[in-house]
Amino acid sequence: MKRRNFLLTSAALGGATLIGASNLYSYDVFEQERDFSLPPLYEGKFTNGKRVFNLNLQHGEMEFFKGLKTKTLGINAPFLGPTLRAKKGEFIQINVKNSLRFDSTLHWHGFELPAKMDGGPHQVIKPDTTWKPEFKVQNRASFLWYHSHMFHQTATQVYKGLAGMFIIDDEESSSLNLPSEYGIDDIPIVLQDRNFNSDGSFRYITSMQERMAGFHGNYVLVNGVIAPTFKAKKKLTRFRILNGSNARFYNLGFSDDRDFKLIATDGGLLEAPVNLKQIRLAPGERIEIVVDLSNAQDVVLKSFKGATRSMGMMGMMMGSMNSDIEFDLMKIKSKNASTSTRTIPSKLSEHPVWNPNNAVAARGMTLSMGMMSMMGGGGNGDRFFINGKAMDMSRIDAVAKKDTFEIWKIVNQSPMAHPFHVHNTQFKILAIDGRRPNKSEQGFKDTVIVDPMGAVYIMVSFKYNSDKNVPYMFHCHILEHEDGGMMGQFLVT
Ligand code: C2O
Ligand code: CU
Ligand code: CU
Repeated sequence: MKRRNFLLTSAALGGATLIGASNLYSYDVFEQERDFSLPPLYEGKFTNGKRVFNLNLQHGEMEFFKGLKTKTLGINAPFLGPTLRAKKGEFIQINVKNSLRFDSTLHWHGFELPAKMDGGPHQVIKPDTTWKPEFKVQNRASFLWYHSHMFHQTATQVYKGLAGMFIIDDEESSSLNLPSEYGIDDIPIVLQDRNFNSDGSFRYITSMQERMAGFHGNYVLVNGVIAPTFKAKKKLTRFRILNGSNARFYNLGFSDDRDFKLIATDGGLLEAPVNLKQIRLAPGERIEIVVDLSNAQDVVLKSFKGATRSMGMMGMMMGSMNSDIEFDLMKIKSKNASTSTRTIPSKLSEHPVWNPNNAVAARGMTLSMGMMSMMGGGGNGDRFFINGKAMDMSRIDAVAKKDTFEIWKIVNQSPMAHPFHVHNTQFKILAIDGRRPNKSEQGFKDTVIVDPMGAVYIMVSFKYNSDKNVPYMFHCHILEHEDGGMMGQFLVT
């Protein structure tokens, strides 16, 4: 009997979960080879000068384990959605049909776009209706994504599969000779951890600890497949990696400790590539890396220890959820990879210089968690706050002026890290816990890790759009925290 089967059976006997928490990757996940899955590329169709996409939010079914069915949600597919692609400067229209049995939304994470096109909690799509946002692509070349942002239900809807990736190109990015052939040497990857019941169905949060720390699963799906094997076609390969997990942080690197080149963060290309061996990636964040596979050795993309930095009791609690252990994500075989004509230029881009003295406003955002209610004191109310308040759809927390600079100080008053995300902007990090950002942290960002009891200063600008009625969101991108209140609203006027 294979070990995998053994685990399955013993868990089935227990009746509760497929694989218990202590078993996370305590066996060879590559024992059974699973094919890498490339999300279909969807470039839309030009009609009346607009690039038009048709998306359908739908119910689906997947077989993550042979012979076991899992009920899922997807976009034009049973689970997750296609990779959309457009160019800076184009006008796009996205027809989002809701074929689900409940309300949903679709948010364009990382885009600078009009508030009513944002797809946040205010742009609800009722079942059997179609929402048709349209906007000009203002962002520079970058790797963005889209996902449900339904008030109080983002965590469960994304968990079941309502998410996809979005690639933007521009002249700068296409003038470089970087690996950029979709599915050949330019490979998008979304990492999402999940748990399963013994009948194959998704298992979501079952304990108060998970509710506090956010969901942590014992299986990591790479584009919807557990620990796949990727057969590289080119010796120089670019991976665009999205952490689409609800709450899990990763500390990404390779099993043989090889270097890779970080070329882009959330908002696109860095000024120059940065050589790294490991990099943390929090929920909502993206990176683009280029890896040299010319030695033809199998290598494993892994998550190393050091992903989370939770303190004290929170650290113990999260430790019990395997939040910070080493585990495998994907095997890369490069035996048959062919020589690449692509290169990584030493200069990738030039960023405008943003002078902090030009900021017209300074704001503080303090993130906190209700530790008392966590210990069983409170009821079912909100447990997560920004500046002491839980999200309220009818309250505006900040008003910014279009095309000005602001400095936001994000303070973490809790013993676990939070990825802080701001809509409608790509910002710059000014300081992290009293130090200057490293080279790898100097790119454009829309989500930034704020470590336990730490503070991060960011310089934000909302360049293009204003609307005195419809707000954008800022929030923690741990989806259980967002749903639980760690979110606020701002207007750009
Ligand atoms: Cu990726 Cu407000 O979200
Ligand atoms: Cu967003
Ligand atoms: Cu959080």
